Amino acid sequence: MKMTKEQKYRLLEQAEPGELEKLAARAESCEWRQSYHIQPHMGLLNDPNGFAFYGGKYHLFYQWFPLGTDHGMKYWYHVTSSDLANWTDAGIGLEPGGPYDSHGAYSGSAIEKDGKLHLMYTGNVRDENWVRHPYQCLAITDGNSMGTKLEQPVIGSVPPGYTEHFRDPKVWRDGEGYRCVIGAQRDDLTGTAVLYRSNDLLDWTFEGELQTSLSSFGYMWECPDYFELGDQGVLLFCPQGIQPDGERFRNIYQSGYMLGKPLESNGRNFEHGEFVELDRGFDFYAPQTTKGPDGQRILVGWMGLPDLEYPTDDKGWAHCLTLPRELSLRNGKLIQRPAAGLIGLRDREIEFSAELNEESRSFAGVEGTAYELQVAISPSASDSKHGTFGIQFRTGENERTVLSYEASSGRVTLDRSQSGALPGPDYGTARSCKLGDRHGSRTIEFRLFVDTSSVEVFVNDGEETFTARLFPDSASTGISLFANGGTAAFKGSYWSLREGS
Ligand code: FRU
Repeated sequence: MKMTKEQKYRLLEQAEPGELEKLAARAESCEWRQSYHIQPHMGLLNDPNGFAFYGGKYHLFYQWFPLGTDHGMKYWYHVTSSDLANWTDAGIGLEPGGPYDSHGAYSGSAIEKDGKLHLMYTGNVRDENWVRHPYQCLAITDGNSMGTKLEQPVIGSVPPGYTEHFRDPKVWRDGEGYRCVIGAQRDDLTGTAVLYRSNDLLDWTFEGELQTSLSSFGYMWECPDYFELGDQGVLLFCPQGIQPDGERFRNIYQSGYMLGKPLESNGRNFEHGEFVELDRGFDFYAPQTTKGPDGQRILVGWMGLPDLEYPTDDKGWAHCLTLPRELSLRNGKLIQRPAAGLIGLRDREIEFSAELNEESRSFAGVEGTAYELQVAISPSASDSKHGTFGIQFRTGENERTVLSYEASSGRVTLDRSQSGALPGPDYGTARSCKLGDRHGSRTIEFRLFVDTSSVEVFVNDGEETFTARLFPDSASTGISLFANGGTAAFKGSYWSLREGS
């Protein structure tokens, strides 16, 4: 059931008596609640925000509409962690409803200054004609309490040449000062990102557009992020309005990266390579990164997309975040590996191996709804150019999710056509991508993190990832390996995973 505008733009204190309790109870009893992913108690979660390592732990916030599963009045909800695996609930991090965020505290980022965490975000305001006015705002916290907002926005207007779609500041330290990148739409309705500079996070000077070779690439760029990794500058952004192109760009909106020469301190020119999707799956958007205590670059994404309906929408809650992923570079590609701390969730291990030819096989105890599964598949020398090999999981009487590798094309496919209830079926039910040069190796490695209603697949140690929400029957717990049209050796490990705390 969709809410009216009036219902959507209510603050928590405007909830009807008993409304919150009812919603929370509905969410709690949903069979698709996750076991170790970050999810809202109730209502709708979207973008990760304010990701930072501060005061000895990670702080992560997310966009949250408490009163339903529509995109309504957005709060920031706050969680903390020391290992990126177990998360502690820290309550509301930012509250909307002020003069500069009357219709939502939209996405933004965090940075430490003078011992305090500074949250820079977009205040969303709708006027009486429902025209949008974005303000870039600042709130300050010691990490233990809600952000205290400055009375005035730090960027109070949209510069000439851009529409009201101007949001999602990502701030970073640059020499003695700070820079931020903001997602924008030009007056000609093409998407872009702009840069600002500040010495104190309070006074910001508009530098101009980040210069890329993409003069017309979608109608809006949401959630930009810029950082340096090794000798590369990395720009992440989420362009909207890109047409599908073969196996690429199949989702409603895209999320990807471009590698290039690091930005000069005073420069806006970004010399870059092609736009590459970050994730090959169905449900991935609006990622944000931060630097960990050892200099590692960690990314978290929203495991969902705007403007699609999801099977939990009528169950009082929607969406979750992806697992944190550590980024690195290999052969000119961004590599994503599950954060090291996630091994802390592992429980009982079962090892297995088999040589399969035109058959499928399952193993005692290797099944469930919350587990990590690593499988190395080595097609025999004569079958390294034909045959399809893979894993079926969340299998039940009528359900299965299929991850496969087709040797002839070097293609990996995740098929959720028979997974159960489906989000966004209009956008197709399978996603594929071709792996890069295997450098003579015949072995394909899959590492899966399955939770009650999702899977995250890491292929060949993070060369590709496939992220998907899955909504199977709770009885669909089976796992089997298969070899069609050829012979392959399979070797793997299974761990049931503990609930994150
Ligand atoms: C991306 C996004 C952002 C915006 C936020 C609002 O999903 O649309 O651009 O700040 O969500 O919740």
